Amino acid sequence: MKPVKNKIRVKVPATSANLGSGFDCAGLAYELYNYFEFEVIDDGLIIEGVDPKYANRDNPAFVAYSAVCEKIGADVSVKITILETNVPVSRGLGSSATLICAGAYAANKLYGEKLSPQEIFEICTEIEGHPDNVAPALFGSFCTSLITQGKARTVRFGISEKIVFTVLIPDFEVKTHDARSVLPHEIERDDAIYNMSRIALLPYAFEKGDFELLKVVTRDRLHQKYRKKLFKNIDDVKKATQECGAISFMISGAGSTCLCLSEKSIEKELNEKISTMPNGWVAKELRISVNGTREVL
Ligand code: HSE
Repeated sequence: MKPVKNKIRVKVPATSANLGSGFDCAGLAYELYNYFEFEVIDDGLIIEGVDPKYANRDNPAFVAYSAVCEKIGADVSVKITILETNVPVSRGLGSSATLICAGAYAANKLYGEKLSPQEIFEICTEIEGHPDNVAPALFGSFCTSLITQGKARTVRFGISEKIVFTVLIPDFEVKTHDARSVLPHEIERDDAIYNMSRIALLPYAFEKGDFELLKVVTRDRLHQKYRKKLFKNIDDVKKATQECGAISFMISGAGSTCLCLSEKSIEKELNEKISTMPNGWVAKELRISVNGTREVL
């Protein structure tokens, strides 16, 4: 099969999964992008712009690229260049999802969009293992997702422009594996009901920018209280966000980044407070990526 063009550049946004109550099923995308180039070559695999130890067939960008090519019967030979990385690695902002979504999206575009967005989403979810980052990374805005009979489904919602998103990024990593291994295997029924009732209203609260409701529905009892011990000075950081007027504070994905919501911009004031704390916390206000993964022309 011949490609419709030989080269494509794509950008994929950072994402925050969970958003408190939406453990493993909710996520949103930011205007903070990683940039990639994919070029069809005659033979083999070349990966540039990364540490040589990641320049091999296990790189998630190639895994996703080749999964799409194999499904549509195209040759997998490719040169992948990581042009610009703005999404911090291993910080709970979906950096691995950016690689996966880039590879799958680029392969599909290069070979004439033989697969639907839904099929690309299913392939990305299978590679990532969960849909909560790849859904907003591909489609933008706020997405809730599920897996049924092995297939991922997602619904995209709007996000009110009234909500200010500020991420707090520390200098330490929290490994997703560690963050999952501290979770209990069984949960109390009250805790299940607590989260279920909140996730049910979470999309509405984000879409409307209903701050009273956001304050309530972003709370959680299934994961954050167990994960807190993996974080350094998270209580002090949370207190600083509250002193600056944040209405809600949560862990971004499995961490180590945290996220707070507010009605006004608090980045400057927050940085003044947290810059004196240990562990290099930096606050960054981010806008929502409405479009998700896109070709860069
Ligand atoms: N929902 C996942 C978790 C995100 O919280 O473990 C991991 O990136």
